[in-house]
Amino acid sequence: MTRDLVSFSDLADADATSLLDAAAEFSKDVRAGLGRRRDAVMATLFMEPSTRTRLSFEAAMLRLGGGVVTSADPKGASTSKGETLADTVRMTDGYADVIVLRHPLEGAARLAAETARRPVINAGDGGREHPTQTLVDLFTLRRRLGSLAGRLVVLWGDLRYGRTTHSLAPALVRFGARVLLLAEPGLEFPAATLKSLARDGAPTARVEVAGAEASFGGRPEAILIGAAAGGEGAIALDRDPPDALYVTRVQTERLPPGSGGARRLPTIDRRFLEARPFARTAVLHPLPRVGEIARDVDDDPRAAYFEQAEAGVPVRMALIDAVLGGAEGWARSRPAESRTPPLCRKARCVTSAEPPHEVAAAPGSDCAYCGGAV
Ligand code: NCD
Repeated sequence: MTRDLVSFSDLADADATSLLDAAAEFSKDVRAGLGRRRDAVMATLFMEPSTRTRLSFEAAMLRLGGGVVTSADPKGASTSKGETLADTVRMTDGYADVIVLRHPLEGAARLAAETARRPVINAGDGGREHPTQTLVDLFTLRRRLGSLAGRLVVLWGDLRYGRTTHSLAPALVRFGARVLLLAEPGLEFPAATLKSLARDGAPTARVEVAGAEASFGGRPEAILIGAAAGGEGAIALDRDPPDALYVTRVQTERLPPGSGGARRLPTIDRRFLEARPFARTAVLHPLPRVGEIARDVDDDPRAAYFEQAEAGVPVRMALIDAVLGGAEGWARSRPAESRTPPLCRKARCVTSAEPPHEVAAAPGSDCAYCGGAV
């Protein structure tokens, strides 16, 4: 079993904590890691646009003293000649010691991890997950807030097609934080992920958001994971102020045709942050922002998003170093046996694009790649 990182759920709490601790060490001086991985090569296979994730992965490997080979333009790769993802991964497996994959289809990283002998790191698979962004987010939140236990974190924006919150929400819950899901209408958090959180014992309730009506132009509806201070059916932000606001953009590239409605959540600007509940709220965003946060917030001490982007390097240094150093998998990884998943064939799932012999069919309920019902 290799140390793949396909889903944040592959990591036990202790694995995640030790990665964050190692990242904190690297962040003191990223130059100090030079030489640790001088003999290693990392392949970045990016079949979807990226700036921060790819560059910070590559900078991280270079800071460790290793080399990087990259394929970041699907039009310039054999994918455009009809090569399957599985074959592309088989090739890359022979050229590098670790593979970092970003792909537009859900479950692509799982398929790659099943195919490769080397470790595979998921740098985003369609709208499904983005576990390394979650490590970056947790690193930034820990640095800002210390312990996450009991903290209130608002996840804001496109919670349906944005993959970052799909990895982050369960991680926050595992570290004891409370999560308020405040979605743009029609872009609500996936019901299946909410159900699995509830199955794991997290109390989940629909609530009205009170105490900041002027900022929101009313009382928006939200979902609270964890207990509310201040009554049934509502969360009063003036008495229970958010410790962090995690803002996301609408993922227009993944919206079904014709569904792109107008944004209804307000832009986060200085005026918004003047409201009392937000006096000490850290503002995070995985970036890129496209109008969700005004430029006038950038110099505000509550703005954490550029610091968050910079944390990508030490966090990914810690991850690459751990993945290359470990013969054994993470404590929570499942063994690489899932070669007989149900074949869901949904357009957003990798099973729709790969030939049947790469993704074997079997009767069952949930697709092992995208997690959707079959
Ligand atoms: C995010 C992504 O690609 O999911 N960006 C990133 O990796 N920092 C968020 C986004 O594109 O909106």
